[in-house]
Amino acid sequence: MAQTSRIAGFRSMSVAERRHAVANQTALEDEVFDQVDADAFGPEQAANLSENVFGVFSLPLGTATNFTINGTDVLVPMATEEASVIAAASNAARIARPAGGFHTSSTAPIMQAQVQLLGVADPHAARSRLLERQDEIIDLANAQDPKLVEVGGGVKGLQVRIVEAKSETYVLVHLLVDVRDAMGANAVNTMAEAASDTIAAIAEGRALLRILTNKADLRLSRARAVFDKELLGGGEVIDNILHAYELAAADPYRAATHNKGIMNGISAVVLATGNDTRAVEAGAHSHAVVDGRYTSLSTFEKNAAGDLVGTLEMPMPVGLVGGATKVHPAARAALQIAEVKSAADLAELIVAAGLAQNLAALRVLATEGVQRGHMSLHAKNLAVSAGATDEEAAVIVDRLIAEKAFRFDRVQAILTELRTGVR
Ligand code: MEV
Repeated sequence: MAQTSRIAGFRSMSVAERRHAVANQTALEDEVFDQVDADAFGPEQAANLSENVFGVFSLPLGTATNFTINGTDVLVPMATEEASVIAAASNAARIARPAGGFHTSSTAPIMQAQVQLLGVADPHAARSRLLERQDEIIDLANAQDPKLVEVGGGVKGLQVRIVEAKSETYVLVHLLVDVRDAMGANAVNTMAEAASDTIAAIAEGRALLRILTNKADLRLSRARAVFDKELLGGGEVIDNILHAYELAAADPYRAATHNKGIMNGISAVVLATGNDTRAVEAGAHSHAVVDGRYTSLSTFEKNAAGDLVGTLEMPMPVGLVGGATKVHPAARAALQIAEVKSAADLAELIVAAGLAQNLAALRVLATEGVQRGHMSLHAKNLAVSAGATDEEAAVIVDRLIAEKAFRFDRVQAILTELRTGVR
């Protein structure tokens, strides 16, 4: 655990000072940051992860502050190209602190593999035959991964579904696998491939696809937080945030943007820790469909004291072992900074970040709107690209906002004026 995730003045520190502050809070050595330097992961290392590699694509990596999860302060590593995301998560986490921060929980880490069966003459009877012999199928699948079984994982059950499709009725066998601290794709795919001949023989059909489902609805993580009324800006702001939420709950067009705000936080932590962003995104959006309609992944309510309460529950198939989590040095550093001990710890950290991000976006939307913040960042970028120092940039940003003119020629004119005193 971090001694405190409230690091005074973190935003205005230099990179070296930030590294030192994070190392201090987490009892890591400053050298942990060698892993995030450019030469720690060059094209040679990258070529072990992908193909036809000619370079490395870098992104900003930072940490959100102010997070308390289940009574423990934590730093939340985030990799994102989007301005304001890390600041917004930190801000929402600060608003959740008076009521104890985020409270989280998870289901067991159950991933599912599907085996698709074709040409089954009697799908309902085949389903019964498969379930009668499930122990045999489970043993066969478990034999593929004795290490996983040894640590308490492995296949925990079988489900058989019958799906009417365009050209025929498919029988689908789901292997429900506890993958412990892995993301689990490799484990479940291996099991599905190994068990598919036996499954096909029992069903008297032909096995075709043997692959996990990214609708990981048996591997859910949840976060809940109470957001302080005063820090949010009062009762009217809460009522407006609730209107924003209700629109997302009712309207798929708004829900997609609302959920995108959640994913700003989720994907940033998933990426920073070397996990599979696409798997998490596929799981999220499939989970956002309820009774056939796409809706909000989160909920917001007012509690008895008039504070705002948010919850988020979604599939979170992330791991600490395998894939880039172990191979990518920056991912290793991120996991050390987050101080997570299990895949469930990481999953819950990620969902807490998603809820924080969501609240931060709704608060801005329900008050001043997003453009003010975006435009001041845009103004800062313009000023820096015109060669302004930090002090000059601050003056230029204020002037552009006051003039509502975000043009490069104005930036140059103001900069000349600041340097020569001539208007
Ligand atoms: C922008 O990246 C995310 C938001 O659009 C989310 C939302 O509208 O809730 C601000």
